[in-house]
Amino acid sequence: MKIVIIGSGYVGLTTGVCLAYLGNRVTLLDPDTRKIEQLQKGIVPFYEPGLTEILHKASNNLEYIDGWDDFDTMSDIVMIAVGTPPKSTGEADLSIVEEVAGSLGARITEAANPIIVNKSTVPIGTAAWVKNIVEQNLRRRGINKAVHVASNPEFLREGEALADTFYPDRIVIGVSSQFAGEVLCALYQPLAEQAFELPYRVSRPAGSKSPPTIMVTTPTNSELIKYVANSFLAVKISFINEFANFTERMGGDILEVAKGIGLDPRIGPRFLNAGIGWGGSCFGKDTGSVIFTGEQYDCEMQLLRAAIDVNYRQRELVIKKLKTHLRALRGRTIGMLGLAFKPNTDDLRDAPALDIIRLLNQEGAHVKAYDPVAMNACRTQYPSLQTEYCATAEKLFEGCHAVVLVTEWREFLNLPYPELGKRMAVQLIIDGRNVLAGHRLHESGFHYCGVGRRDERWEKGYLSPVELVL
Ligand code: UDX
Repeated sequence: MKIVIIGSGYVGLTTGVCLAYLGNRVTLLDPDTRKIEQLQKGIVPFYEPGLTEILHKASNNLEYIDGWDDFDTMSDIVMIAVGTPPKSTGEADLSIVEEVAGSLGARITEAANPIIVNKSTVPIGTAAWVKNIVEQNLRRRGINKAVHVASNPEFLREGEALADTFYPDRIVIGVSSQFAGEVLCALYQPLAEQAFELPYRVSRPAGSKSPPTIMVTTPTNSELIKYVANSFLAVKISFINEFANFTERMGGDILEVAKGIGLDPRIGPRFLNAGIGWGGSCFGKDTGSVIFTGEQYDCEMQLLRAAIDVNYRQRELVIKKLKTHLRALRGRTIGMLGLAFKPNTDDLRDAPALDIIRLLNQEGAHVKAYDPVAMNACRTQYPSLQTEYCATAEKLFEGCHAVVLVTEWREFLNLPYPELGKRMAVQLIIDGRNVLAGHRLHESGFHYCGVGRRDERWEKGYLSPVELVL
């Protein structure tokens, strides 16, 4: 099919590249000329494992344009994948979607009949709203016809985008006409049949279903599904985090507790990793947007509000734990092992690291940081954070009174901790992701402190770090 994707951000570019790889002719339209120039040179403007390779393989089916002049109105599908950032109230800002709908209404010809697809996460009712704007603009040009606007939300996770796109659990298509449903089902047929070969091994996400379910529903239900899915996941993480704190007080171990409850298929083992909580571009934005919409419709979303509060508390918990061990933080050197909101991405949107650094700055601590890919983004996007960026993990540990593992990058699992410990002023590790639990760091003199786990200090009868310093 001939597809135009408006917006070449994370969702737009990944979707476009994968659909091109599956044999469609895809044009990516983005007003950001620099980004388009980069893409024309084969450069992906953000970090996503494997995307560059697929982009190169699919290059014959890909075209990049930075304006509407070359927009082909005779395309089968036009996907809107532009940003919908949150306003300070939590409301999703739809101004770019509105602009795009206006541009489509100003260009679609009498003969053209593209299916317009909302790919971005948009508030409930947006498909109908976009349809209205496009049709109004068409009427102004003397074209009286109904356009097809569908909702087809993206469920891909950053860092796992290719696996999630090629091996989805479900594809949700929200349509109000049979024609739109048929076109979109045909588009996703190769995914439904898993009829493709990838140039290299992309591991299936754990527990993914094959073949995926294609669910055809109304646009409203489809828009809701996206918000409800992300809200559920955010609540699930906050739930396990609340119980992590409870478990810790009770002298239990949240890793064991999560394993035990996850064996119940009604609960399931995934998304029960306790730690410093969720971040990223979706969960905070989407829960905020749901709460805002709920307010408009007199529907208080109490559970979501609580999930957001618990999530922020997990970030403060790091400071609390550091203070328990080091008492005052003024003048202490604290190392941040990882900055990105999760591994395999350089995305820092709503990353717990940002709040933790801010809080440490307020406490007067000296902050050092190391992340394999996100340091440049942090330096340029958040210049007000007072942070010393380190070229290697080894340099990070030098002189630290504590190191906080913030992002569970794979390489952090294999660091030479006994060696690194010798470079620290105090061998204290706060494991914000509970991934070093099996490393027996106390055996090389560390004070290891996870989230939701009994403190090894008590078990082993060691002195607390502050007693070692004073
Ligand atoms: C999420 C949804 O998973 C995806 O379906 C949607 O399309 C976009 O939002 P993403 O934000 O890329 O994807 O990351 P995800 O892997 O879901 O993780 C989100 C955050 O939750 C990360 O900060 C991660 O560290 C945290 N997390 C995840 C936990 O703290 N514990 C867990 O058990 C799982």
